[in-house]
Amino acid sequence: MVDKYKIIGPLYDFLNVVYGGNQFHKCKTFMNKDLKEDDKILFAGVGHGRDAIDAAERGAQVTVVDLSATMLKNVEKNLKGKNFKHPIRLVHSDIFEFTETAEYDFVVANFFLNVFPEDFMVKVMQHLATLVKPEGFFVVGDFHYPKGNVFTKAFQNIYWYIAVGIFTVFAKNAFHKIYNYPKHIEAMGFTVTECEDVNVLLVPALWSMKAQRKTIAKPQQQEAA
Ligand SMILES: C[S@@+](CC[C@H](N)C(=O)[O-])C[C@H]1O[C@@H](n2cnc3c(N)ncnc32)[C@H](O)[C@@H]1O
Repeated sequence: MVDKYKIIGPLYDFLNVVYGGNQFHKCKTFMNKDLKEDDKILFAGVGHGRDAIDAAERGAQVTVVDLSATMLKNVEKNLKGKNFKHPIRLVHSDIFEFTETAEYDFVVANFFLNVFPEDFMVKVMQHLATLVKPEGFFVVGDFHYPKGNVFTKAFQNIYWYIAVGIFTVFAKNAFHKIYNYPKHIEAMGFTVTECEDVNVLLVPALWSMKAQRKTIAKPQQQEAA
């Protein structure tokens, strides 16, 4: 397995803090508030896993998957000395080889989908959607789609393009415009039930969204005459 995060991986969380203070962590953990004890939650492309640790501290059953051994070593480092109701399960794998269909109450993709070109990203999303339980949730935390006045949109774009530029050079991530995740999620048959902006320098530069699989309404029974 090629580890694209060998160089930048060890610095990943540090760079998050330099670039956004605590706002990246806030974005990545925002929807954890909705977890119930023993819920099953998957973090795809987990990185350093502080969001996964937050979920485990809430009593959830946490599985994390990442292709990068460097990133998973950092999760292990962050786990040292911590005990949870359910120990975190670490899986070193390509997300496409992880096929625990309909097993998870929550499937989380924090700053994960943006590493792919758009057509491939949609395939990753579709795969992640198969892992969600019928009434479960799909959570995405990422850079905010440009919205608002001209200055807000300019800030959102600059903020994204600096980040993607660095990660294209050091981790060979795809270089592309900001994705409109709610549009893609809804197209997959999910309903976005919550969407929270996270500000950087007073501008909504990040967001976290939670979407639920649409349930098919049962046909109403006709009352007996
Ligand atoms: C930009 S980092 C995001 C890390 C973390 N989720 C966060 O919020 O900071 C993308 C992560 O996805 C992982 N990744 C990339 N492609 C993957 C794949 N096909 N399967 C599993 N993990 C993958 C990388 O190794 C990296 O840890």
